[in-house]
Formats: sequence, C-alpha cells, structure tokens
Amino acid sequence: MRSVISVVQRKGGAGKTTIAISLAGDLYRRGMLVDVIDADPQRSAAEWAAPGRLPFRVSEVPLQYGQAGNWANLIRSAPGSITIIDTPPHEYAVGAAVAVADVVVLPCTPSGLDLSATEETISAIAFARSKRDADVPTFLVPNRVDPRTLEGQQIVDALSDLGEIVCNPIASRLAYVRAFSAGILPKGQAISIELAGLSEPVLEVIAS
Ligand SMILES: Nc1ncnc2c1ncn2[C@@H]1O[C@H](COP(=O)(O)OP(=O)(O)OP(=O)(O)O)[C@@H](O)[C@H]1O
Ligand SMILES: [Mg+2]
Repeated sequence: MRSVISVVQRKGGAGKTTIAISLAGDLYRRGMLVDVIDADPQRSAAEWAAPGRLPFRVSEVPLQYGQAGNWANLIRSAPGSITIIDTPPHEYAVGAAVAVADVVVLPCTPSGLDLSATEETISAIAFARSKRDADVPTFLVPNRVDPRTLEGQQIVDALSDLGEIVCNPIASRLAYVRAFSAGILPKGQAISIELAGLSEPVLEVIAS
C-alpha cells in the first residue's frame, strides 16, 4: 500500500527540504521504493536532485494558494510506494499536506522563533486532522541541534511538552549543507544513526 509522508513547518529554514531528502535517502538504503514530491515553488528539493545524483525520483508538483484540491488529486494519483512531500513554509501548505498524509514530519530548530512556529504548525495540523477520519501520527524532529549546548537540551524538553512524538535530534552538521550543494545524499555513520532515529519510528507507523 502507498504511504505519504508530509514534511511541514510554517516557518522557513527549519530543515524541511534537508530532512525530506535525507529521510528519503535513508528509506532508500533500507530497500524501500521511495520518491520525493517537491511541492515548494522555491524548488529546493528539485535543485538538490538537478545534478542527477540522487537514487530516487524528485518530481515537482508545486502547491499554490487556493489550489489544494487540484494539488491533492495530483498527489493521490502519483505512483510510488513511499512518497515524501517537501512543502513550502506557510500554513496553507500545512493544511493541504496533512490532508493527504499518512505520517507528518515537523522539523524544528532550537530557535525560539521556530518553537512558537512549531506550536502554531501543530494547531494547523490538529485542525487538518479534525477534518479527516484517519489518525495522522506526527513526528517532531529537533534539527540543527548541538546537544552540548543548553539550547540543544532545552529544545528536546520543550518539544516533549507539545503532545506529539519527538524523535532523536538531528545534529548541526556541515555534511547536510554540503550534500545539498553537491546534489548527493548526506553520508557517514553518525548521520545513518541519527536518521535511523526518524526512519525507524516512521516505518513502524507505516507498517502498523
Ligand atoms: N542538520 C543540519 N545541519 C546543518 N545545516 C542544516 C541542517 N538542516 C538544515 N540545514 C541548512 O539550513 C538551511 C535551511 O535548511 P532547509 O532548506 O532544509 O530548510 P527548509 O525548511 O526547507 O527551508 P524553506 O522553508 O526555505 O523551504 C540550509 O542551508 C540547510 O543546508
Ligand atoms: Mg525547503
């Protein structure tokens, strides 16, 4: 059965594109048939894929204001086993992406601005969920975290109070920035371990 994972956050720059591509890469390495849909008219995921070095397909299905219905039809008719949607940073996109999702992933950096945007994003997710019969598990991902700093520890505690599932943090690593620049997947043992902290619970939910 096909599963859709929507990566959302109403604030820009929290790591949606980085996590969408990195999660797709980790699922691919685990043998899953995965593809990414770039719903952001900024086209960051499509740019990441442009050099042709990613091992899965990234297709552009941009989401425009007021077009959620048509967009959802395009998403539902897309082929694939696991589809990960990278979304633009606004509330309209959160609603549209949650409406088509089996699982939601919400990255949040240790900045106070991200935390309040995360609370607002969770309210938008709750509203979109209330219009559906299906439960939509939501994973909060602390991103760009330095666990040695106070902010790094505080973000995990703060996210734990929001009533959703909190994943292991993703560290701040140049490897993620360089992977985007080079059009490749982020590599390395530390990265595999931290991405497993997201992909394993997501796969459990999909399997259940
Ligand atoms: N864990 C990380 N470590 C280091 N840099 C990171 C990490 N996650 C994201 N970044 C960097 O932060 C910047 C923003 O990340 P990204 O583009 O993934 O965010 P976004 O939420 O998709 O942004 P937008 O809302 O503009 O689409 C990029 O330069 C990216 O390389
Ligand atoms: Mg992005």
